[in-house]
Amino acid sequence: MKEIINYTKNNKTKYLEELKEYLRIPSISTLESHKGDIDNCSKFVASKLKDAGMTEVKLFPTDGHPIVYAEWMKAPGRPTVLIYGHYDVQPVDPIELWKNNPFDPVIKAGKIFARGADDNKGQNFVHIKSVEAYLKTKGELPLNVKFLIEGEEEIGSENLDKFLKKNKKLLKCDAVLISDTSMYAPGVPTINYGLRGLAYMEIEVTGPNRDLHSGSFGGGIANPINELAKIISKLQDKNGKITIPDFYKDVKPLTRKDRENYKKLNFSDVELMKEYGVDELQGESGYSTLERLSGRPTLDCNGIIGGFTSEGAKTVLPSKASAKISMRLVPDQNPLEIAKLFTKYVKSLAPKSVKIKVKDLHGGHPIVMSLDDKAIEAAAKAVSKAFGKETVFTREGGSIPIVIEFSKQLKAPVVLMGLGLETDNIHSPNEHFLIKNFERGILSSIYFLDEYSK
Ligand code: BES
Ligand code: ZN
Repeated sequence: MKEIINYTKNNKTKYLEELKEYLRIPSISTLESHKGDIDNCSKFVASKLKDAGMTEVKLFPTDGHPIVYAEWMKAPGRPTVLIYGHYDVQPVDPIELWKNNPFDPVIKAGKIFARGADDNKGQNFVHIKSVEAYLKTKGELPLNVKFLIEGEEEIGSENLDKFLKKNKKLLKCDAVLISDTSMYAPGVPTINYGLRGLAYMEIEVTGPNRDLHSGSFGGGIANPINELAKIISKLQDKNGKITIPDFYKDVKPLTRKDRENYKKLNFSDVELMKEYGVDELQGESGYSTLERLSGRPTLDCNGIIGGFTSEGAKTVLPSKASAKISMRLVPDQNPLEIAKLFTKYVKSLAPKSVKIKVKDLHGGHPIVMSLDDKAIEAAAKAVSKAFGKETVFTREGGSIPIVIEFSKQLKAPVVLMGLGLETDNIHSPNEHFLIKNFERGILSSIYFLDEYSK
């Protein structure tokens, strides 16, 4: 073990330089103009897996972005771990709020700043580097490892889903290991045991057949922005409950044990308010902040488009307005069913004076895992050893839609070894990753492979 760890220490600078190279590739999955970068990024990941000593390194083309696969299967009789991650990143806008070029990584105050630093390049690179350290020092791994790094996580993992269903044999494993979530708090080793699901919708409201002068027509013809705002405001009541009929029908209530677990974490509302500059918190009445953030469903408007938005004033009654709305889901809510309920209710709220279209953009199922599993125990031990503290178990508010498919299709437990921090600004300007977490993450991964092989 010492030799492996010394290897990571001696190669610290090399590891960081390689991570920077990874971060320089603008692999934004949602923008067609970045298709070439996506391809380059998949090739970069494949080459790093090869350099690490993995075998059968392959790029699988899909209808969307390529999937990178690699394996090392030379430990017969030992368990097999499938390590999942994603090389695609979110768009960078609003670019003017970045302090450095998002694709020219900068190290400052012990953090590396770049798009994808935490979500997810920094976190998946940890595992590639832990395997490298093992193979370069020992010449072998203590168990069998498969890597599956995709390029469409940020857009719903549709093609990975298809790939998974067709390649169950190739991906067969005893456990799936993922670092694409957050630690409960800085320095506190964390295993996440739940993810919320997602239903992502778009509402388009059309009023008159063209933009009109708001003086000549205002008051007589419905304004789609006004009507859209009224609809959105009716989706939640004053107690923070979502008003869509049957929305809560399949929600499993939090058990007494769940609530005790949440309570044990001693979450500070005051610190949350301070960190994000808000004077008061809000949410569903009857639930604590931590419960609201990961144990209960939510509805949020992510974007709203319409009318005149440039400098100064222009009087106009616009023809169209639209909004993007996401609902985070908890077990046993089904994203397809929620999308239907949402569509029906939103349509029922629209007055005859406007036309309304509702689109289901994408979704994912929620999941809560059992903690009673050898892989989870091994991971909890491993992060505790690497961070030098007792491990805590939390549910995550975000979503990784493919996770439920791993557990269903591969019938394997999924370990969420979160190495990011909630303050890392993922999906936001100035995303970063703590270099200490990168280093301790590599140790965590090494300890996990060792512990789980026993
Ligand atoms: N790494 C995140 C998941 C996550 C979010 C972990 C928040 C920890 C905190 C992942 O890359 C992500 O952003 N997922 C999307 C899924 C969606 C695009 C289908 C999400 O949660 O919005
Ligand atoms: Zn993300």
